[in-house]
Amino acid sequence: MLEPFRERIYVTRPVLPTLEEVTSKLRDIWDSKWLTNNGPQHSMLELELAEFLKVPYLSLFNNGTIALMVACQSLRLSGEVITTPFTFAATPHVLSWNNITPIFCDVDAETMNLDAEKVESMITPHTTGILAVHVFGTPCDVEKLQEVADRYGLKIIYDAAHAFGVELDGRGIGNFGDISMFSFHATKLYHTLEGGALVHGDKNLKPRIDLLKNFGIKNEDEVVMPGINGKLDEIRAAIGRIMLGYVEGERLKRRQIYEIYEEELGGVAGITLMPEVSADVKLNYQYYVIRIDEKVFGRSRDEVYDALRDYNIFSRKYFHPLCSEYTCYRQLSSSRVENLPVANQIARQVLSLPNYGELALDDVRKICAILKSFGK
Ligand SMILES: Cc1ncc(COP(=O)(O)O)c(C=O)c1O
Repeated sequence: MLEPFRERIYVTRPVLPTLEEVTSKLRDIWDSKWLTNNGPQHSMLELELAEFLKVPYLSLFNNGTIALMVACQSLRLSGEVITTPFTFAATPHVLSWNNITPIFCDVDAETMNLDAEKVESMITPHTTGILAVHVFGTPCDVEKLQEVADRYGLKIIYDAAHAFGVELDGRGIGNFGDISMFSFHATKLYHTLEGGALVHGDKNLKPRIDLLKNFGIKNEDEVVMPGINGKLDEIRAAIGRIMLGYVEGERLKRRQIYEIYEEELGGVAGITLMPEVSADVKLNYQYYVIRIDEKVFGRSRDEVYDALRDYNIFSRKYFHPLCSEYTCYRQLSSSRVENLPVANQIARQVLSLPNYGELALDDVRKICAILKSFGK
């Protein structure tokens, strides 16, 4: 019998800069007395991030959810927007906050992303856009989605909250669709404690997005649209500038962990590993998520989740429940289980395992051994 971990192992741990780096930047901010509203840290971070993410235009936000709300407004989406039920609550909620009905479409059994083949069948005369998510950093079928969107004159927004630094054929993942959103929440590979960004390739869109995130205030005499407060303050922007120096190191550490999971759990009957991606995809290794087939493995996902807790391992059931199961969405006709068979199966099977740079590689091996010991 393997011994439980003495201390709790959580699914993730935030990457932290040194306090010295933070205080040095704080001193600059204190000297400048400029705390928010497009200050120097904010302006520099916008440029540095646009370069890092290889995107033409970037606007910072105080979190990814407000950014996504502004993305919908900036593209004037209305009526119905097709989206995935296998995502975090924020994705469909931003549609509701914009008075748009989320239309849930099933996901692909391999990538767990919106099934591009099924999107077309969900289009109605009310559809104005597609809100797709690069779940766990695996890119969506961007070509197929674009082809459908072009055919029907729809906009595409990508929720790239999980996909910081992901690239497709050398191009930053934020270059696809009309707008992409990144979240810089503390649990993400790259973070500003709370924060986010919208990125896109349309020069005319940036002024509109920047107005929308600052109450629609154009100048001292004019307020031109009903905007919101989406501004990122100087302290978080400064932390974001420091954190850029940590991303690649953290990504590589998580890659090692990812590889151990692949090596140790590959071939275990009843466990499906992370989706395979083609050679032209650069991943960020932010999450390691498995799927457990109860009939083959011998124990259900929920049983494995509970059993891991007995060993002080705190995995997470991401994403369970599906958004289509929430009380606010389950009355929608697109939420019917018959419409979402793949997503419903995945939500019953999925389990996110600990993955963060500070996690010792021996501990990852031990997590795998414990997990395997639960099987048939
Ligand atoms: C897929 C997805 N979309 C949106 C968000 C919301 O981002 P934020 O927490 O920055 O508001 C998150 C999570 O944090 C997420 O995981």
